[in-house]
Amino acid sequence: MPKITIAIDGHSSTGKSTVARQLADYLDYLFVDTGAMYRAVTLFALRKGYISENHFDQAGLIEALSQVELEFVKNEEGVSEIHLNGENVEKAIRTLEVSEFVSPVSTISEVRKKLVEQQRKLDKGQGLVMDGRDIGTVVFPKAQLKIFMTAAPEVRARRRYDELTARGHQLSFEEVFENVMERDRIDSTREDSPLRKAADAIEMDNSETNQEDQFHIILQLAKDRIAGRI
Ligand code: DC
Repeated sequence: MPKITIAIDGHSSTGKSTVARQLADYLDYLFVDTGAMYRAVTLFALRKGYISENHFDQAGLIEALSQVELEFVKNEEGVSEIHLNGENVEKAIRTLEVSEFVSPVSTISEVRKKLVEQQRKLDKGQGLVMDGRDIGTVVFPKAQLKIFMTAAPEVRARRRYDELTARGHQLSFEEVFENVMERDRIDSTREDSPLRKAADAIEMDNSETNQEDQFHIILQLAKDRIAGRI
């Protein structure tokens, strides 16, 4: 069977990673959550003090980027998790604090250059599902299948809120809603690789579609593309 590259881009909290992971599992492809990479760099910046509540030392972070080593490692259940300099940070990158600063960090061209280079190296022609904001536009403009996911902001904030509170985080719906809106704004208006739909991407609004149905729709699209290559 020929293997294809699948790019899944879209707004925050649209379930991109969930569906990307499901597809990769089903097709036995490699799954890469590029948001986790930007989050890990943000966690590094917070821990090293390049970012604090009212200070962002961008030059310092850029200089320290060579000390950032990211790797995806499968856990005992076969789930791919991100490691920052050898430490599993899959949980630590999912806090609201990291979410608050990840969009500003993602505007830095040096950060993007480093991560995009690493992302491109992960495509070894063995089947890949990668999700993010610029996968279909910048990282893999020739991906055989591109999906652009979106949903109403209230729906996305509600999903994020439910996810965070289920994990024991104490926060209000308003805080989460504001973060989702602010990240959309920064991600869509930044100069380097802004979030936008590639001309040949298929747009899917999942405000009212359940995850299972959406998975089957995208899987069918993937199967059609694979069949088209035989
Ligand atoms: O997918 P996510 O919400 O975990 O992504 C976190 C942030 O990382 C997002 O707000 C913007 C940034 N990002 C990016 O700029 N480019 C990508 N390919 C993936 C994520």
